[in-house]
Amino acid sequence: MNHPLDRMTLPLADEAATAHLAQRLAPLLTPGFILYLSGDLGAGKTSFTRALLAALGYSGRVKSPTFTLLESYELSRFRLYHFDFYRFSTDRAWLDAGFDEYLGGDGVAIVEWPERAADSLPAPDLRLRLEFDPTHGDNARLALLEAGSERGRACLSALATGAAAG
Ligand SMILES: Nc1ncnc2c1ncn2[C@@H]1O[C@H](COP(=O)(O)OP(=O)(O)O)[C@@H](O)[C@H]1O
Ligand SMILES: [Mg+2]
Repeated sequence: MNHPLDRMTLPLADEAATAHLAQRLAPLLTPGFILYLSGDLGAGKTSFTRALLAALGYSGRVKSPTFTLLESYELSRFRLYHFDFYRFSTDRAWLDAGFDEYLGGDGVAIVEWPERAADSLPAPDLRLRLEFDPTHGDNARLALLEAGSERGRACLSALATGAAAG
């Protein structure tokens, strides 16, 4: 039976495990890809994005876009847009002024706090939710992955294969 993989949960024992997940996802990203990153403050969304950028060859400083809403990076394979909509409600005018051009074009978009801009955002290829996992310690997280498109499903299949291979 061939059921496409729509969701997957991965235990992340510590920050290195979160970085490892980012390293495995990095080569699967293609221009136009949209990744939503959800989870409480301090869950690891920005840490994950830092590891992702490092895996994509970016060696500079990665600033959280909490106040700027957007930081962008010119990478060898594509431009990466890192959004954080935590403070979105106060900046709606900025969004209305046209950030559509950043999403689903030639760049890859990573969106923290997508819930705060839900009405204005296109659907993602992949959702990653990071949850605290206190029964396994302060640094443990659970990664809940959910595909929203064919290429999102392809990512999950590749990640599942990698996980099975160790
Ligand atoms: N398993 C883990 N994954 C990611 N970050 C972790 C983990 N364990 C501990 N941390 C720490 O948690 C914090 C996450 O902060 P940050 O990435 O800014 O969160 P967010 O962007 O979700 O608000 C960092 O200080 C990081 O070192
Ligand atoms: Mg953050």
